[in-house]
Amino acid sequence: MEQKRPYRIAVIPGDGIGPEVVREGLKVLEAACQAEGVRYEAVTFDLGGERYLRTGETLPDSVLDELHQFDAIYFGAVGHPDVPPGVLERGILLRLRFALDLFVNLRPVRLFPGVPTPLRDKTPDDIDFVVVRENTEDVYALDGTAFRQGTEDEVALQPAIYTRRGTERVIRYAFDLARRRAAERGKPAKVTLVDKANVMTVGHGLWRRVFAEVAADFPEVETEALYVDAAAMEFVLHPERFQVVVTTNLFGDILTDLGAAIQGGIGIAPSGNIHPERTSLFEPVHGSAPTIAGKGLACPLAAILTAALMMEHLGELKVARRIENAVVAALQTGKIRSLEAGKMGLTTQQVGDLVAQHL
Ligand code: IPM
Ligand code: MN
Repeated sequence: MEQKRPYRIAVIPGDGIGPEVVREGLKVLEAACQAEGVRYEAVTFDLGGERYLRTGETLPDSVLDELHQFDAIYFGAVGHPDVPPGVLERGILLRLRFALDLFVNLRPVRLFPGVPTPLRDKTPDDIDFVVVRENTEDVYALDGTAFRQGTEDEVALQPAIYTRRGTERVIRYAFDLARRRAAERGKPAKVTLVDKANVMTVGHGLWRRVFAEVAADFPEVETEALYVDAAAMEFVLHPERFQVVVTTNLFGDILTDLGAAIQGGIGIAPSGNIHPERTSLFEPVHGSAPTIAGKGLACPLAAILTAALMMEHLGELKVARRIENAVVAALQTGKIRSLEAGKMGLTTQQVGDLVAQHL
């Protein structure tokens, strides 16, 4: 089908290594889109630590309004050594997640052929699942309250919130995804719920009930529930048991760093912050890594695969597959010695070029 108009993509390179990995991601995206006859326009937004230090602004309302008009947001990283922790994370990234209501944080955990994993004996067949992390609730959604701060009697309240609606929509997304993976890729249709319902009996009790209700609408999908501590162990011991994992915001945050580790490191872990009907935001799981910024040491594969995830979300499966296949081919050349920053044997730009050559 002929594309009516070019996709409009907002690019937020951000801080640290953000700009250099985004540059490679866009290089590959551009070439892949050209090969498939897909058109897009990119508009770059200056957000991040430098702007904050210059103007005191994190995410001005006017920019937020503008971002709503785009088909997708391609995001590098935020975090700056001269800005106190939390200011940019809350002011930009978390604000975008909330303001755009991006309730799914989609984090594929996939071991590509030729990538070393710390899990001895595990192969690409064993490590190929997706974590669906709830992205708008839990401890992220409330500010917390301090009483008598700084005294011996200090009390800190840091509550978590779970709503039926918020829980249901993300669990439903996970089941839909399991069904889609089964149809498109012949994967077993299975969803694993990860929670701590044995302790957080109220909040995660809600998750358990909603999970059972939604599961009833998907009789062909196998289900299981694991407590988060056991799930952490299973990520390492038996990753092959997972297809789609659905979990709460904080547990998803923690588990997906573990997921990145088993798929070969944070240098190759992409993510999407998604609302199926709205402007969604795509970012590598890694942060801004200021200590290695600007030196060509960062691995751009996470950003490149993030571009693929974005195109998949936009329905451009051919572009997405082309990018993924090029990453596989680039890895198979053996020229990328390691995915660890500084140990690649190539610069950030050379890795981007290598992938582009294999499109
Ligand atoms: C992530 C990050 C963020 C999170 C931080 C930067 C707020 O760790 O995207 O996983 O906790 O969600
Ligand atoms: Mn995280």
